[in-house]
Amino acid sequence: MSKLLQKQRLSVYVFVACMSISFYFGGSALTNTEQTAKSKPDVTYSNPYFKGTKEEREAQVKRISALFGVECNFCHNEDLTVFTEEGVKSKTMMKASVALGVECDHCHVDRKHYKENEQEAKRMFELSEIMGTECSFCHAGKDKLTLKGEKSKTAFVTRAWATEARAWATEGTKQCLECHIEKKQFALNFYGWQVLNAMKGLKGM
Ligand code: HEC
Ligand code: HEC
Ligand code: HEC
Ligand code: HEC
Repeated sequence: MSKLLQKQRLSVYVFVACMSISFYFGGSALTNTEQTAKSKPDVTYSNPYFKGTKEEREAQVKRISALFGVECNFCHNEDLTVFTEEGVKSKTMMKASVALGVECDHCHVDRKHYKENEQEAKRMFELSEIMGTECSFCHAGKDKLTLKGEKSKTAFVTRAWATEARAWATEGTKQCLECHIEKKQFALNFYGWQVLNAMKGLKGM
């Protein structure tokens, strides 16, 4: 190997070595800043349930605690990094509340008691679980339904989805599975498609 080539190789090695060293130290410097950031409360203000100014959000948070008659740590630690079972459940509840355009007291009276819509709400949670949908599949804010929500409304009525005799959605919702596939957000099964084609036939489409 010529002297010149050896020299070039050496400089390549030196270059790579320098890069790795600076990368290493650069990397650890980054981790350090990340750690300092983490030691402060990690409040993101990102849950769509919370709206408005800082004060309005704080009021919302206080309303939740007052409603349930609990301390903040009933649901999470100060940094919002650790959530209890109730806290995790509350995240789902917040999603539901946003879809319905309401606050927690739309259904909750206090920690142990619910409003008169309790059974309907429970059926809705079950239906959503069985059909694999979010509440927002059908609900588009306060007293508003999506187009799919409107279709379900007809289906609920024609199928007597929620009757006194049927306290639980599971039975009512099983009827929907005659034509729709479980967990597939109301996709039609084979029979459902036949029904759809028959409907189209009737309409002369
Ligand atoms: C019933 C449960 C529950 C109680 C009680 C509760 N929180 Fe929360 N809190 C939550 C949930 C759930 C979130 C949303 C977390 C997420 O989506 O990551 C949240 C979010 C927050 C946020 C972030 C707000 C935002 O704008 O994103 C703050 C700040 C907060 N809580 C403070 C408090 C304080 C202070 C108390 C006591 C006065 C309290 N929380 C009581 C469940 C609760
Ligand atoms: C549409 C009605 C409705 C709304 C709105 C609602 N909830 Fe609920 N919530 C329920 C029902 C029904 C249950 C009982 C569910 C069950 O038995 O599985 C429940 C249960 C809970 C539980 C568990 C209670 C326990 O001790 O097991 C928590 C915590 C909770 N909700 C928090 C909230 C919070 C916080 C909000 C507002 C952000 C909220 N909920 C909004 C209907 C609602
Ligand atoms: C497949 C469609 C569909 C899904 C999914 C759905 N809903 Fe509903 N929901 C309806 C329809 C339709 C009504 C009846 C509205 C009416 O009569 O005008 C209704 C009514 C309600 C009511 C009674 C009215 C009220 O505001 O108190 C509650 C509570 C409710 N839904 C909660 C929920 C919750 C919580 C979820 C998610 C866990 C959910 N729904 C998911 C279709 C749906
Ligand atoms: C006999 C068959 C049959 C049964 C049972 C049935 N459906 Fe349907 N459903 C259909 C057909 C066919 C369509 C498609 C035609 C249409 O969109 O109007 C449909 C459409 C829907 C849609 C719209 C889906 C989308 O993606 O646009 C929803 C939501 C729905 N049904 C809800 C329900 C609910 C809730 C039940 C149970 C209470 C139910 N259906 C029971 C036949 C059925």
